[in-house]
Amino acid sequence: MDTLVHPSYLPKPVMPQVPPQQMLLGQKALVTGASSGIGLAIAMALGQAGADVVINYVADEDKAQHACEEIRHLGVRAEAIRADVSDEAQVKAMFSRMLDHFGTIDVLVNNAGLQQDAAFEDLTLAQWNKVIGVNLTGQFLCAREAVREFKRRGVNPAVSCAAGKVLCISSVHEVIPWGGHVNYAASKGGVMLMMKSLAQEVAPYRIRVNSICPGAIRTPINMEAWGTQEAYNELLKLIPYKRIGEADEIGRAVVWLASDYADYVHGISLFVDGGMCLYPGFETGG
Ligand code: BGC
Repeated sequence: MDTLVHPSYLPKPVMPQVPPQQMLLGQKALVTGASSGIGLAIAMALGQAGADVVINYVADEDKAQHACEEIRHLGVRAEAIRADVSDEAQVKAMFSRMLDHFGTIDVLVNNAGLQQDAAFEDLTLAQWNKVIGVNLTGQFLCAREAVREFKRRGVNPAVSCAAGKVLCISSVHEVIPWGGHVNYAASKGGVMLMMKSLAQEVAPYRIRVNSICPGAIRTPINMEAWGTQEAYNELLKLIPYKRIGEADEIGRAVVWLASDYADYVHGISLFVDGGMCLYPGFETGG
């Protein structure tokens, strides 16, 4: 192993006391899949916390540019970069462009993800590969580029106690099995152990790696589950807190987990799900 950044005899890191608008001041963040839904809310929340933000998108250039303008209004820098996260060459090109423009990266939010649902016997290899490619391989490719830069640069105490932060946006379905969505649940189960194994490996370099696991959040991906009153009532049976989550609630969790306030939080899956993982079927009976 090459040099450890912080030998154990060093004093504990000094926690900055800063207002929320400055929790990530001067940090450079990349959010994948950030032109809509949870990714967009995360990008906005990072900008509100003072970070400069790269919005990665794959298809919707207009939405990505619009998001950049909104973020710039917050007084920080923003840039949209197109890349399919499942493609190694495109991921490398995206990172080198980010490093050219922003100098470095402090926070990677591995958010890009999609669903291609089918009954198991109808699930095609193309659907399997697409979902694993974006949701799991994409997270690997982006995390690898980020870790390379974090290790190269090391800790910059003026910016953060940590050399860098990787946040994987996983799902309650990293632990809750999901029939009809086997490819998706497999991808998120994979993210869980990729995240934890990576966290174990890079911790000595002061690189923090964690996941956030959203439950049902109101975004286009799951409109079927909340778009009608009937569907919404069904959904509430799965949520002890009896409401759907909003994308900015994930944004706030990301800001905290990426900030030095969470400096000792490492290798965890933080569930933001209104209790969806609490076996809601057992609320009564059992
Ligand atoms: C899925 C949503 C679903 C939620 C809760 C998420 O990971 O993308 O479609 O509503 O999990 O089941």
